Amino acid sequence: MTGKLIRMNRILREDGKTVIVAMDHGQFQGPIEGIKDVRRTLSNIVAGRPDAMILNPGVIEKNGDLLGGKVSILCRITGASTNYSTKFDYHRITTSVEHALSIGADGVVVMGFMGGDGENASLEIIGKVAEECSKLGMPLIAEMLPQAMDHFTDPEYIALGTRVAYELGADLVKVYYTGFESFTKVLESVPVPVVIAGGPKGKDAFEMAREALELGAKGVAYGRNVFQADDQTEYVEKLLKTVHG
Ligand code: 5RP
Repeated sequence: MTGKLIRMNRILREDGKTVIVAMDHGQFQGPIEGIKDVRRTLSNIVAGRPDAMILNPGVIEKNGDLLGGKVSILCRITGASTNYSTKFDYHRITTSVEHALSIGADGVVVMGFMGGDGENASLEIIGKVAEECSKLGMPLIAEMLPQAMDHFTDPEYIALGTRVAYELGADLVKVYYTGFESFTKVLESVPVPVVIAGGPKGKDAFEMAREALELGAKGVAYGRNVFQADDQTEYVEKLLKTVHG
């Protein structure tokens, strides 16, 4: 499918790797530190020239002047759940692949949950979205999360979730890093690119990226570590050096 191939090449550079900045947290966490002023943070991040950004549709639509021609846009199309939800995995489709396409997206992002009450609905969403993505030539990025917190970086869960996402049609999978001893198991579970999410600010996200890349990950999709950094632009530049060399 030509459209998918062309758009995938906007997300991944010629070295097959990518630096994605995730700034989709407001949809469920509200105006947290680093993203209170959306336009200022967007400007700072885009100035560092990441390869792509994960954003919610409202943010994309209202900030096209800051984004167009500068960064690939990955539109988050699932959500409908906040920090106050009674169930963490209570996610639904919030907009269509077609709408994402119409507002300029180069890919769509869906959240996939494993092991909880929401698993069934969540995996069904990935399958249905994959079908739409195939029709429209749109890359599908699946972010796979174990529902139980005590399995959040469990390699068994993450490897299974990564494989399930691929089987349902994902073109790129985003997961939390499980550690140097176990992440190969995750990477070997699929023939599509896998990138790592960052988690809360605090640990050494650059060291984590170097480890994951050494094992064969294709890049990072970091959020809080970037937008909660003292210098967001510089942080992106450092990530680009780490991933692309
Ligand atoms: C929040 C997300 C983020 O895209 C993902 O978790 C990466 O962000 P962080 O590096 O802050 O964990 O899904 O909606």
